[in-house]
Amino acid sequence: MDEQTRLKQQAAERALALVKPGMAVGLGSGSTATLWIKLLGEKVRTEGLEIRAIASSEDSEALGRSYGIPFTSFAETPTLDLTVDGADEVAPGLALIKGGGGKLLREKIVASASKRFVIVADGSKQVEKLGKFPLPVEVIQMAEPLVSRQLAELGFTPKIRINNDGSRYITDEGNLILDCSGVLMDNPQAIAAKLDAMVGVVEHGLFLGMATLALIAEPGGIVERTK
Ligand code: A5P
Repeated sequence: MDEQTRLKQQAAERALALVKPGMAVGLGSGSTATLWIKLLGEKVRTEGLEIRAIASSEDSEALGRSYGIPFTSFAETPTLDLTVDGADEVAPGLALIKGGGGKLLREKIVASASKRFVIVADGSKQVEKLGKFPLPVEVIQMAEPLVSRQLAELGFTPKIRINNDGSRYITDEGNLILDCSGVLMDNPQAIAAKLDAMVGVVEHGLFLGMATLALIAEPGGIVERTK
């Protein structure tokens, strides 16, 4: 296991301690959330921990099911006790960029239904200002040229996300992702408001005022950030 994975594993282990029997739990996506789902799955499989879950991606749900984690729906369970997920950048105030893995829409839905939204990450994800990591914006395919122009007017350089085989990356919901670089954000709230108002934008990777705790794994130990 390389050093970064070891740190991610430590953050995932700390987050596991937050799960109590009977909880409704949100499963995030990405490599750090995957480590956490595996730890949680082991507890369900070997210790009979009773929980029910909703996942933020098809991959995370398949992984959870492979351990026998029972799944629920928002019709049955409109509020989750706890969601644990990774992040691409964590700025002061627990302002986040997410969506590097392309799952930002479902991640935001799951986070929005959670009483506690806990981020697990290694220290490399901490930044003073959001935006070095290109901001993922999920768009309806037909609207992409229109949205790309508006993003350029805000100062972004939007690029359609491409798979390794050269095809366009399509989200779980059938949309495109525009990875938007070039803006270090002094006021992410103002940018989020502009993105929220763009017709054709389904969702964006700015998660503001959502996280309640970040467990940041540094070589010297876990730092717990609440803001
Ligand atoms: C998935 O869409 C993302 O939001 C991930 O949570 C984010 O990219 C962090 O992923 P890692 O844990 O793999 O760094």
